[in-house]
Amino acid sequence: MCGIMGYVGSRSAPRVLLDGLKRLEYRGYDSSGIALVLDRKLEIRKSEGRLENVEKLVQDDPKKLQKSTCGIGHTRWATHGKPTTQNAHPHQTGHVVLVHNGIIENYSEIKNDLMTRGHLPKSETDSELFGFLVLEAMEEGRDLVHAVRESFVKIRGQCSIVVMSEKEPGLVVGVRNGSPLVVALDPEGGTLFASDSQPLLPFTQDVIFLEHGDVAVATAQGLKILDLDTGNPVQREATHLEWSLEQIDKSGFPHYMLKEIHEQPGALIDTLNGLVDRNGPEPFTLAAQPGVDILKDAKELVLLACGTSWHAALLGKYWLESWAKIPVSVDLASEFRYRNPVIRPGTVVIGISQSGETADTLAVLRELRVKKIPCLGISNVRRSSISRDADAVFYTSAGPEIGVAATKTFVSQLLTLLLFAGYLARERKTRSTSELNRLFEDVVKLPHVIAEGLEPDSEMVRRIDATVNALTPKSTPMSGVRGFFFMGRGHSFPIALEGALKLKEIAYDHAEGYAAGELKHGPIAMLDSEMVVVVLAPKDSWREKTGSNLEEVKARGAKVIGVGDADDHQLSRLCDYWIPLPRESQKIDPDLLPFVLSPVVQLLSYRRAVLKGTDVDKPRNLAKSVTVE
Ligand code: F6R
Repeated sequence: MCGIMGYVGSRSAPRVLLDGLKRLEYRGYDSSGIALVLDRKLEIRKSEGRLENVEKLVQDDPKKLQKSTCGIGHTRWATHGKPTTQNAHPHQTGHVVLVHNGIIENYSEIKNDLMTRGHLPKSETDSELFGFLVLEAMEEGRDLVHAVRESFVKIRGQCSIVVMSEKEPGLVVGVRNGSPLVVALDPEGGTLFASDSQPLLPFTQDVIFLEHGDVAVATAQGLKILDLDTGNPVQREATHLEWSLEQIDKSGFPHYMLKEIHEQPGALIDTLNGLVDRNGPEPFTLAAQPGVDILKDAKELVLLACGTSWHAALLGKYWLESWAKIPVSVDLASEFRYRNPVIRPGTVVIGISQSGETADTLAVLRELRVKKIPCLGISNVRRSSISRDADAVFYTSAGPEIGVAATKTFVSQLLTLLLFAGYLARERKTRSTSELNRLFEDVVKLPHVIAEGLEPDSEMVRRIDATVNALTPKSTPMSGVRGFFFMGRGHSFPIALEGALKLKEIAYDHAEGYAAGELKHGPIAMLDSEMVVVVLAPKDSWREKTGSNLEEVKARGAKVIGVGDADDHQLSRLCDYWIPLPRESQKIDPDLLPFVLSPVVQLLSYRRAVLKGTDVDKPRNLAKSVTVE
């Protein structure tokens, strides 16, 4: 989950590293640091807290660090050891310095061995230990590349490491084994390293995604890639990125999250165009790609994911079962893996991960593939690790999502699952062509409906603002509200879970999502005038039942925020606060309403977080890509 940068060339290394780390902060941001080679000596500046602390250390430094043209950098999400300056990367051991992303699993073993040989690590991290291994190998006469390769073989676990040494100034060596590492040639000469492609975009759109077991050896003169085990050179093609620099900037929005909420209509259009053959003779014709045949032959589906992607999976189950009549089970990847599940012949497993890097989801896919179970992936990041661990991956086209809270990737995942449902319904003849034609026409309308709701002066946005303002007084934002419940039935239930997760993540409010019918089986005991209940009750087949549950909530004195059809006066009258869905949503199939509800729960959380003054794009304790189990 940490972010790594590396650079050697002719530019000012601290600038390149710090700019790059800023774009990687979504991977972790509890401490950061850079190591530079200056006049053949290592200079390290690191600090707990945000990257600005390191920027300041560099700016204020009398040593003219800007002159350095070679260095490595890191932004951390703590696993081993607290987020302190001591534990921040880079870690220096003698003349060796390194940054690391991932986990060294045999950490205790290595630490004990090192200590019996008289070494004393300064930090609590697993990462620092690698430096001692490299140092020992170099002291025995190996050069840096050999020493890194030899040391890497001694560690277990998925990780990437980038290393330099004062003994070989101007050389940067990076190894990928699991955690992603991307390299690129700087058009002005030199080489860049990064944990993902975004920091490389200001320099080039042509990047090399290192494979597991690749060692990248870079100097200002060029780049070689070697095989970790044999040391032989390997050829890796550069990939031309479609993502542009503009896409990774805020485009005038105060936060990436808000920008990404507004990008949802575009994300849906691009995902639709990427996955569907619009010229196909039938509705829901998936564009030809390797995964389509695997999906077509499925007799049963297992959907696996974590967090928001798991909520997408829960919704996918509704569509896949009701449209295509295919049995679907949904599981959290971290639970599925350790509970010896029974998988019947004909089952296809689909791992859903916007980043394509989530450790738990990838680990399950890897294990299932060994057992010859067909595995598909859904991801937003091309060439991410899921492309190795699944037989085939369907890519959403949401563009880069930088805010830590998933928004546009979520609706793009929903669309992908809905397209699978339509495709399988057609293949399995569980819905008529005319029905599917009508549904597909509504799918095409979805981006417009969402865009209508997101217009800054729409009734939906105005009511969301008014509701959050009323519940979050400026002077005392925490007063009067002890917690939030989100409730919904059917398709709205996973959105209730998602709404509660968003609120917890970015506004740090206690929030729970419930199936509306479950409230009376326990949680209702929590309700009183200090609790807020967000009732998701669009006009679908569950509307009446949810309405009754709303009455039960009201009777307990809780404050009610109702979200429903703009003309649902019966419901709006019962609510303390009312958020109408865009009018165009009345014209689409009710099965598609979760797409329209999603921006409502996202904006509610966003506005509340802004009023409470939290760091919306980088909420505390979180990281965007969770590469540890
Ligand atoms: C919530 C959020 C997380 C992720 C989860 C899985 O806003 O972003 O809950 O959904 O960490 O991540 P991916 O989809 O990358 O596997």
